[in-house]
This record gives sequence, C-alpha cells and structure tokens, in this order.
Amino acid sequence: MSSSNRTNIPNSLNEHWMPFTDNKTFKKNPRLITDAKGVYLTNHQGKKMIDASSGLFCNPLGHGRKEITEAVSKQLDKLDYCQPFNQGYGGSFELATRIAKKTPEGINRIFYTICGSTAVETAIKIAIAYHRAKGDSKRFRFVGRERGYHGMNIGATTVGGMINNVKTFASVLMPGVQHMRHTHLPEHKFVKGQPDTGVEMAEDLERIAMNFGGENIAACIVEPIAGSTGTLVPPKGYLKRIREICDKHGILLIFDEVITGWGRTGSAFASQEFGVTPDMITMAKATTNGVIPMGVVAVKEEMYDAVLDSSKNPEGTPELFHGYTYSGIPAAVAAGLAVQDIFDKEDIFNRAKEMSPYFQDGLHSLKDLKEVVSIRGYGMMGGVEMKMKDKPGKSGFQTFKHCYDAGVNFKNTGDTLIIAPQFICEKKHIDEIIDKLRTGISNYSKS
Ligand SMILES: Cc1ncc(COP(=O)(O)O)c(C=O)c1O
Repeated sequence: MSSSNRTNIPNSLNEHWMPFTDNKTFKKNPRLITDAKGVYLTNHQGKKMIDASSGLFCNPLGHGRKEITEAVSKQLDKLDYCQPFNQGYGGSFELATRIAKKTPEGINRIFYTICGSTAVETAIKIAIAYHRAKGDSKRFRFVGRERGYHGMNIGATTVGGMINNVKTFASVLMPGVQHMRHTHLPEHKFVKGQPDTGVEMAEDLERIAMNFGGENIAACIVEPIAGSTGTLVPPKGYLKRIREICDKHGILLIFDEVITGWGRTGSAFASQEFGVTPDMITMAKATTNGVIPMGVVAVKEEMYDAVLDSSKNPEGTPELFHGYTYSGIPAAVAAGLAVQDIFDKEDIFNRAKEMSPYFQDGLHSLKDLKEVVSIRGYGMMGGVEMKMKDKPGKSGFQTFKHCYDAGVNFKNTGDTLIIAPQFICEKKHIDEIIDKLRTGISNYSKS
C-alpha cells in the first residue's frame, strides 16, 4: 500500500513492533485511531471517543489546532532542516527566549533534545559536566525515587523506579544510583490535592547522603507529581525538604516536568505551583502540543556559565560534547512557537487552574464505584486506582477496554487509570469524561 492510498486498516499488523504494548493481544483485536479533532478521537470503526488523557499528557490545547499545523507547514516550506551544530537558525533562539520567560527565575538556559527521555539523559550529563567544571569530579552518584518514571534511555531508566522497566535491563544500568522510597502511602487513598502526611519520606535523601556521602552525589531527580505511576501528589512540605537537603550537600535538584510542565498543575511549572525551585527542569510532550517530538532542559544560568567558562577547548570545539541531530529542528520549533502563542492568547494556565476543582470533584465522585480503591489528583491530572485482580495490570487493562467501548480514551498504568483532560475542556466535556468513566468502570465490575 502506498502512502497515497492508505486506508484505516493496514494490510498487515505483523511488522510494526509496538512500544509498551502487548503486541500479541493487540494484533488479534486492534484499536486504531484514525482522526482527532478538539477533545475527540475517532477509531477505525468510526467510533468517537473523548480524549481523557490529552493523548499522553501531550495535547492540552486540543487536537488538530490549525495555528500549529499551519505554522509547521509554513516552516517546512521555508526551511525543513539544517544541521544544528556550530550553526543555527533564528527560531530556536526565539523559542528559547519564550520558554525562559515562563520558567522560574534564573532557570533560563535552554538545551533542546528530542523527547522526555533524552531531556532526562541530557540533564544527567549536564549535572556531571557542571560539577566537573567546578572542579568537583568525584560527584558521580544520582538519586531517583521508587515509582518514578523518567523515560527509557539507560540513564533515565536507571533513575526511574518502576520495576518492570528496569528488571530486564539490570545488567546495563548506570552505576551509583540510589532510590528514595515513593510517597504512595496507604493513608493517601482518596486524598484530593496534596496529602497532609508523608513529609518525612524526604528524609530518605538525607539517609542516602549519610550512607554514600552527600559530597559524592551529583543530583537528585524527581517528578514533582509522579505521573506515570498514577498521579502521586507530593505531601505538603516534601519538595521543600528535598530542596533543603540538596542545598545542604551541594546536590543539584532536577525536576522532571515532562508531565507537570506547561500548565498541568495550573501554573506554568509545578516548581512555581509548589514554590520550590530546582536547578534544572526537563520538559517535552506539551511543549509542541505533542505534534512534533521535542524535549527541553531548562538550566540555571550559573550552571551554563560555569560549563562555558571552564572550557579550555580550542575555538570551534564544543564546551559540552552533547547534542542530537534533531535538537531544536525547525518544524518542532515552529510548533513550539505556535504553542507559546496559544498559551498567551488563551491564558491557558489560568484556564487549567480554573477548571481544576471541577475536574477533581468529578473524578472523586467516582469513589462509590465498587472496584475503585483509590483516587488521587492535582490540577488537571488524576489517577483512578482499580482493585488488583490476580496480577498487577490486569484490572487496569480490562477497565481501559470497557472505558474505550464506553467512549472515553486514556492510558492505564498498571491498575491505575491516567486521567488528564485537555485544558480546552469545558465543563460539559469534564462531565462527559466522568459519565463515561462511570459507565466503563461499572461495566468492568459487572464483567
Ligand atoms: C516524567 C517523565 N519523564 C520522562 C518521560 C519520557 O518521555 P518520552 O517518552 O518523550 O521519552 C516521560 C514520559 O511519559 C515522563 O512522564
């Protein structure tokens, strides 16, 4: 089949090895998405579904935004690609300035990557490069957190803490990585917003510093709200305490805001929402409204200065030997700039903030459903945890399928349903998501 006569159903499903997918089951009964517009998706059977997870936290501005597709198309006509090393093009600088206006003060140097995983990998390398630039080359350790998700490269996999993602690859993981315990505490069941209890979990970082020498730790990386493990909202005071411990030991703090970045909490970044400033912020997904891959690391200016100032490399030789063929490519930048325009024009972060209580109330109204064992949420993200059946992941996947049939689309992570509506949702859309979740979850419990 050529690209010009492609149909909704391909001739063969065999060749494509799908990511994070049960390929065997999927290929017997595929779910193919053919169209997307606004808050709705259509599948290959012509069924319309409401998108309850913004793709994968990617499209808060809705699907098929003309402003973005036209900007990309115009850019491709003018300049489709230029190699990004020791030369550049104007748009990437313009976007960096726009991003730096919204990041917390001082975190204003922008390194482009290809996705969230490469943003995390880059942040890990920048941490090492910065310490070396300061003459502190013994810092090689990193601290992550159980149930953390930071992507799938080796570094990102290692600092992550989701067992299925690491166990097969244990032999090739990065050395010197420790994990704090997660904050998924039993008393946080059905807690709306930040839990009052659990701040003491931050002391795990102090213990690790005591056990391994804080002076050997390069950086600590956390998602301000753990997203892929089903929305674990930080206990009150937790992130602030992590920052204090980092400061005490000279450890850099990286906030992985690939999910929480760009308004998901109601502020541009969770850092601002929770009043805690890290040294680096990673982002991806909503940076381009998901339409073209792009990752970003926003770095403290003084770190950038330290790396550049310490370089004794001859003219024309990079200060940091790191970068990607697709770092800040024109099409992704064009999408990013169009997204920034929409953020500003539609006051999108405030829109998310204003809709959050309505969404959270709706989500928590599902508490009475039989198989629901916990609901958590903050801003425009939430997790509905289903009772485990035989093995982890089974009830989550079965519920996902019932909800898909009921006309609401999202991703399950283990036994938790990831619900993260688009910021353009009106109350009627939130109502539709909640109603269809109720139907899908109820149908699952009856099955
Ligand atoms: C917090 C976080 N970091 C990193 C990543 C990896 O991003 P990508 O899949 O774009 O590599 C994800 C993906 O979901 C994420 O949620």
